[in-house]
Amino acid sequence: MRRVLFYLIPVVATLILIQFIRPEKNLGEPDKGTDFIQVSQMPDTLAGIILNSCYDCHSNHTRYPWYGSVAPFSWILNRHIAEGKAHLNFSSWGVMDKAQQITQLDQICEESSSGSMPLKSYLLIHRSSRLSDQYIRAICEWAESESLKILTEK
Ligand code: HEC
Repeated sequence: MRRVLFYLIPVVATLILIQFIRPEKNLGEPDKGTDFIQVSQMPDTLAGIILNSCYDCHSNHTRYPWYGSVAPFSWILNRHIAEGKAHLNFSSWGVMDKAQQITQLDQICEESSSGSMPLKSYLLIHRSSRLSDQYIRAICEWAESESLKILTEK
C-alpha cells in the first residue's frame, strides 16, 4: 500500500496542479459579415458539412467537448486550434483578398481529398465529422466553381 501511495501521490498532485494552466477558450464574438459560410452563400448541406468537420479548428468558434477544460487535453485542443487558425480561419474569410481565397479553396479541396483533414486524432472522437467520398466530391466541385466565380467577378 505504501509503495502504491509513493507513486500515486505525485501523479495525482501533478494532475491537479496542471489544471491551473488554462489556455484561453476559442469562443470569439460573432463574426461581422466575414464568415466563410455567410460570405460564400453555399448550399446549406455543404455549409453543414464544413461547419461540422472543419470549424472547430478553423474558426473563432470551437464546440468544446466535456474534457475541453481538462488539462492536458485542453492544451492539445488549444494547439490544434491555434495551428489550424494560423493556416486558415474561416471566420475572417471576408477580409482575405481574392488570390488568398482562391489559394485556400484549392487547399480545402486538396486537404480533404488526401484525407489529411480533418486531423486523424480529431476523427477518433468526432466520428460524424469524417468526410465521405460524396462529401469530398461536393466540397471540391463547389470550391472549383467558387474559384471561377471569384476570378471572374470584378
Ligand atoms: C482537429 C483540428 C482540425 C480540424 C477539425 C480540421 N483541421 Fe485543417 N488544419 C489543422 C491543423 C493543426 C493544420 C496545420 C497543420 C497541418 O497542416 O497539419 C491544418 C491545416 C489546414 C489547411 C492548410 C494546409 C496547408 O498546407 O497550408 C487547410 C486547407 C485545412 N486545414 C483544411 C481543413 C478542412 C477543409 C477541414 C474540414 C474538412 C479541416 N481542415 C479540419 C487542424 C484541423
